[in-house]
Amino acid sequence: MSRIAYVNGRYVPLREAAVHVEDRGFQFADGAYEVITVQAGHLVDAEGHLLRLARSLRELRIRWPVKPRTLHVLIREVVRRNRLVDGTAYLQVTRGTAPREFPFPKAAVPSLVITARRLDLNPVDRLARGIKVITVPDIRWKRRDIKSVSLLPQVLGKQTAVESGAFEAWQVDDDGFVTEGCSSNAWIVTREGTLVTRNANTMILNGITRQRVLKLIDDRAMAFEERPFTVDEAYGAKEAFITSATNYVLPVTAINDRPVGNGAPGILSQELRQIYLEFAGASV
Ligand code: PDD
Repeated sequence: MSRIAYVNGRYVPLREAAVHVEDRGFQFADGAYEVITVQAGHLVDAEGHLLRLARSLRELRIRWPVKPRTLHVLIREVVRRNRLVDGTAYLQVTRGTAPREFPFPKAAVPSLVITARRLDLNPVDRLARGIKVITVPDIRWKRRDIKSVSLLPQVLGKQTAVESGAFEAWQVDDDGFVTEGCSSNAWIVTREGTLVTRNANTMILNGITRQRVLKLIDDRAMAFEERPFTVDEAYGAKEAFITSATNYVLPVTAINDRPVGNGAPGILSQELRQIYLEFAGASV
């Protein structure tokens, strides 16, 4: 079946889906996006993603392209038209199309694109072995809390990871602390069994999966700390893992080719994945 996209008010076959060459997303990366997991045909944590989109748009002073409630309906419709069972819905809002001038155009209408695609939510090999991460300097701007479509540093970081045989690159700030992955949040489990992930401010994207996992941990009275950790601390950690809409909770078994713990996926990481899967299955 050919895939269907939603582009500015129309459902079109993906191969014909296009925006204008003067769309500001294309020319300035002047837009925001969200990736929402679809599990068994249902959107996982849609409300959280739409709230974060609202925040990104507010910070960027981009108008909503449609009402939030309508957007939710449109995303579900794209999922339905693509007969998507397990995968992701992608939505992107830009400031719209206008002659290329840096200041905000007066009359532009925001663009809205929604696509959906399949994704294996149970990557058996990756889960059995865990993933390798490398570290790269964080060369991004200072508003990482906004889910902006300006992703060039992450593209470069991921490419370096792939070329090193790794799955993800953890970005590291000027003081040696891990900020986050290129498209995921970074976590460790200390020798004492405390879960640690960086506190959310403008230095990282506050992942919806991160927030959900924190809530699930808190509900179970498990020990956690939201604070920065260094690459050295991560080398000495008992476990490590990443969280994102596309990976849920995914164990990290090597950082820069040094094994984490005993080099196998950690017990707590695996338990958290199970807990998250149960939540996602139930989230409709
Ligand atoms: N990326 N940090 C960054 C820089 C990200 O790009 C992402 C998500 C996350 C995790 O956020 P969430 O849990 O809300 O997915 C953290 C998406 C999946 C992407 O760009 O494909």
